[in-house]
Amino acid sequence: MNHFLDIHTTDATALRGMIDQARAMKEARKGLPKGTPDAEQPLANHMVALIFEKPSTRTRVSFDVGVRQMGGQTLVLSGNDMQLGHGESIADTARVLSRYVDMIMIRTFEESILHELAEYADVPVINGLTNTSHPCQVMADVMTFEEHNGPIKGKKVVWTGDGNNTCASLIHAAGQFGFDFTFAGPEALDPDPELIAFARSKGVTVTIERDAEVAVQGADLVIADTWVSMHDSQSTRQRRHNQLKAYQVNDHLMAQAKPDALFMHCLPAHREEEVTSQVMDGPQSVIFDEAENRLHAQKAVMRWCLGI
Ligand code: CP
Ligand code: NVA
Repeated sequence: MNHFLDIHTTDATALRGMIDQARAMKEARKGLPKGTPDAEQPLANHMVALIFEKPSTRTRVSFDVGVRQMGGQTLVLSGNDMQLGHGESIADTARVLSRYVDMIMIRTFEESILHELAEYADVPVINGLTNTSHPCQVMADVMTFEEHNGPIKGKKVVWTGDGNNTCASLIHAAGQFGFDFTFAGPEALDPDPELIAFARSKGVTVTIERDAEVAVQGADLVIADTWVSMHDSQSTRQRRHNQLKAYQVNDHLMAQAKPDALFMHCLPAHREEEVTSQVMDGPQSVIFDEAENRLHAQKAVMRWCLGI
């Protein structure tokens, strides 16, 4: 049994295996209606709980559909509707759910909640986003890059904007998958130095650059995310916009990257804020493949967790 809690705490060979399996499983379903069961049904007779303490479209639907395609069943639970949202401890919730289900995916707030759940659960726990990480997203991002432009190892990936949860997992992925990482954003929103230290310890180059145009030069992949995340207070909105407007991904910025550079965004996007519609809907954008690949990547993650 394996938990999938974070990119840096998961073995790099295992991560590579998951990406390769995800691509094979995607290929095997090509052209089939979405509801067609996979030829293999590794999750037959398995029940998976999907807990959401924050909103979600992609994570909710892709996990639910993925489990069903592999023959399993799901329970989609809102944290607020559970006793968890009314004072029951994480540890007791973990012990109880472990008696009913074979695996738990949770989207929550503090990383400590995820870790406590994993500590007390007898079944695998998957991180569906916390305030400080979003590993399933980054698995889909790596898969999407490689599907379009080949191995990500040695490539230059540029993150623009807030050094947030998705950015954190991407920096971990730089270390684990061996790509160079550049952060383009204001000092106040820099990623945690510990993340950078991890990636550098794996031998990749991590660069912090204040000038977005300089940052994206020679980039193979440019990534943006919302300027205000779900865990941020809404009062930060105006300040963030002032801090980040120079980092908007638009055609002018994309023109500084390599001609075959890709654009990604985990979505949901705020069009004309962190990215223009021209870029989102333009020829370099792979945002909807990226969203689709959440499904395939997470199916591989779930199989790895259960060892099946
Ligand atoms: N990218 C992502 O995690 O989207 P949702 O918030 O819709 O799940
Ligand atoms: N950084 C964003 C990602 C949403 C999928 C957030 O946490 O709101």
